[in-house]
Amino acid sequence: MGLRLGDTAPNFKAKTSQGDIDFYEYLGNSWGVLFSHPGDYTPVCTTELGRTAALKDEFEKRNVKVLALSVDSVESHTGWIKDINETQGVEVNFPIIADPDRKISEAYDMIHPNASVNATVRSLFIIAPDKTVKLIITYPASTGRNFQEILRVIDSLQLTANYSVATPADWKEGEDVVVVPSIKTEDIPAKFPKGFTEVKPYLRLTPQPNK
Ligand code: BEZ
Repeated sequence: MGLRLGDTAPNFKAKTSQGDIDFYEYLGNSWGVLFSHPGDYTPVCTTELGRTAALKDEFEKRNVKVLALSVDSVESHTGWIKDINETQGVEVNFPIIADPDRKISEAYDMIHPNASVNATVRSLFIIAPDKTVKLIITYPASTGRNFQEILRVIDSLQLTANYSVATPADWKEGEDVVVVPSIKTEDIPAKFPKGFTEVKPYLRLTPQPNK
């Protein structure tokens, strides 16, 4: 059985391009993004890791630590990082985990044998500071991820962790949000002093409360 939303993300110790880590210790009180890629020295992965490095400030601003993973060795990661830095115009600034015995890949269900028996697919987990899994997405090897979408989900998760709201389709930071159904309409003015619009009794919009 793979991981599901709300499960505790398994802890692990690993060798990485930045030395040995204990996953929980590495995350500390930060949010985490753990993502796997099919292999080192592959074109789509090169662009993905370059984009992740370029977004360093965006992840830091959100108190997020990022870790990549493949079944390749630390030596392979180290050589490949030079190529990523050169071709993508970045400095890879996050650890790439080596998982040659696939223990972490299996704990996180990152190997989908009907897609590939020997490589991880493009799995991505967002993990909250309490180590619960908040998002799981899986892309095929042939499709590079949209890292703006990852940041958008982190914004939504961090907002909805603190306010009784949810974010509507295609929501972006700064746009109106939905008041959760458990809040009665008569209680909205006290909780959301910026006002609200009742489109339907079950669809109430309010300005983003922390803006
Ligand atoms: C890539 O990362 O470029 C890739 C990996 C496996 C299959 C196709 C593309």
